[in-house]
Parts: sequence; C-alpha cells; structure tokens
Amino acid sequence: MIFYFSATGNSEWVAKRIAEALGDKAVDMMKVNPESFTFCKEDYLGVVFPVYWYAAPEAVLGFSKKLNPNNAFTFAVCTFSNVTGNALEHFSENAFKLKSGYGVSMPDNYPISEVIYDTEETTLTKLKAAPARVDEIIARLKTKDRDIFDADKGENPEELTASMPSVFKDDHCYTKPFYVEKDLCISCGMCETLCPADAILITDGYPAWVKEKCYQCMACINRCPVEAIQYGEYSKGRYRYYLEKYLPKVNFN
Ligand SMILES: Cc1cc2nc3c(=O)[nH]c(=O)nc-3n(C[C@H](O)[C@H](O)[C@H](O)COP(=O)(O)O)c2cc1C
Ligand code: SF4
Ligand code: SF4
Repeated sequence: MIFYFSATGNSEWVAKRIAEALGDKAVDMMKVNPESFTFCKEDYLGVVFPVYWYAAPEAVLGFSKKLNPNNAFTFAVCTFSNVTGNALEHFSENAFKLKSGYGVSMPDNYPISEVIYDTEETTLTKLKAAPARVDEIIARLKTKDRDIFDADKGENPEELTASMPSVFKDDHCYTKPFYVEKDLCISCGMCETLCPADAILITDGYPAWVKEKCYQCMACINRCPVEAIQYGEYSKGRYRYYLEKYLPKVNFN
C-alpha cells in the first residue's frame, strides 16, 4: 500500500506510478483512517509526500505515526523542488522506521516563497526527467534494497531539518494573508473542496479562510481555475503550478 499527500499532483503522480509498477494501491492519506490498515511481511508500506521546509508536512507525520507497519517493507519517496535536507531521515525518526527513502526532483509549487526555483523551462525539464527517476526507484524497490536515503539533501541538511520546520510551523502557516479577488472568482467552490485542512468555507459565494492556521499546501492558490486567490503581496503576478496543467506538454509514458 502506498499512501500519498499531494496538493498539486506531483506526489500523487509519483505514488500512482510506483503503485502500478508494484501491483499495489495508491491511496490519498487525507481520505482514510491510518488505524484501519494492517500489514504483513510480504507487503510494501510506502509514503509519498512533498518536502515542506526540509521535512515532511505535519499532516503526513501525523498520519504516518498512526500506521502500524508490523514487518512490511517500509519506504518513503519525497518530491521536492530544490533540496530535501534530511526530510527522509526525519520521517524515519519521527513517524516509522524506513528501510529505504528516495527523492524525486519536481516543479516548484510554492508561489509565495522568497525564492522561486522554477521557470516554465525548468518545470518542463524536470517533468521530462521525472519518469526515468521514478523508474529507477521502482527497480530498487522491487529488489528491496535497504539502508538507502537517496535524495539531493543540499548543504548542511542536519541543520536545515533541525531548525526550519519549526520556523515554518510557528511563523508561516497563517491564513490571514489569503484573500480572493472577487471580480475574478467564479464561485466554483473548488478551493473549499481541495483544502486538506478544512480551512476554507465558501461564504456568500466566495472563499473565506476560517482557521487561523493551515498546512500551506498551496492547493487553493495554485489550482483556482481563474487564479483569483492571492497571499498578501507575495503571490501577485507569480506563476501558478499544478501537474495536470503541464501534462499536455510532456510525454509521460
Ligand atoms: C510550504 C511549502 C514548502 C516547501 N518547502 C520545500 C523545501 O524545503 N525544499 C524543496 O526542495 N521544495 C520545497 N517545496 C516544494 C515542494 O516540495 C514541491 O514542489 C513538491 O513536489 C510539491 O508536491 P505536490 O504537487 O505533491 O504537492 C515546498 C512547497 C511548499 C508548498
Ligand atoms: S477556486 Fe477560485 S474561482 Fe473557485 S471559488 Fe475558489 S477562489 Fe473562487
Ligand atoms: S488554505 Fe489553501 S494552502 Fe492552506 S491548507 Fe487549505 S488549500 Fe492548502
């Protein structure tokens, strides 16, 4: 069984490609109860997640801690746009022990960060390289290679993962800067439906952010079909990304 968390489709696509190759299932972890699954020695137990500030998202750690891997073959795959830090090792220490972990470089989905890592060109380059990288991981999963943590961790990964996730959680997860440009919004309700934190409620036809904090997954801001959602001044004029938008331009086989 492969569980995934995905705001803009990268991790979902990776999870589904791995599941198909292993003859297994990919499941959206936000839609299931982790305590309802049991595993045995023959099973794979995989988790696929995006890296948030050099660690797994809080929602992923919370879900995964409640799984009971028993003696399944455990692995994690993180998708990332720049570097992972020690996200995989951190997962292994804080959720459940991994037998292996891998990273897949994918397009950036964070239009409110100080640095934008991707352009249209690098987005397409990454997407074109992704199937081969995932297939390399699949081959290593099929032979059940162990004790591998293979990702682009960047410089000082221990320091990044030790210090930055708490800064993210304490200072950057506020919903207050979100707002909707009402002249653009078509009241489709997609942002409310997509939000994994139940932080959005359509009120009088428009989204309202009803929780003080959220996961900052960027599903709402990236996937709004008319780009009506902004986050303070950070997101103005910046690209929006979700995988399906680029599928016609890349030949995923
Ligand atoms: C809140 C947030 C924090 C992020 N932090 C990192 C990071 O520390 N390192 C990195 O390489 N990419 C980072 N990213 C980029 C995502 O990990 C990357 O685009 C990922 O593939 C998105 O996956 P998804 O489409 O499955 O949601 C961050 C994205 C968000 C929204
Ligand atoms: S997804 Fe966009 S258009 Fe649809 S309700 Fe939300 S803000 Fe409005
Ligand atoms: S409000 Fe937007 S960014 Fe925050 S968790 Fe919901 S969808 Fe993700």
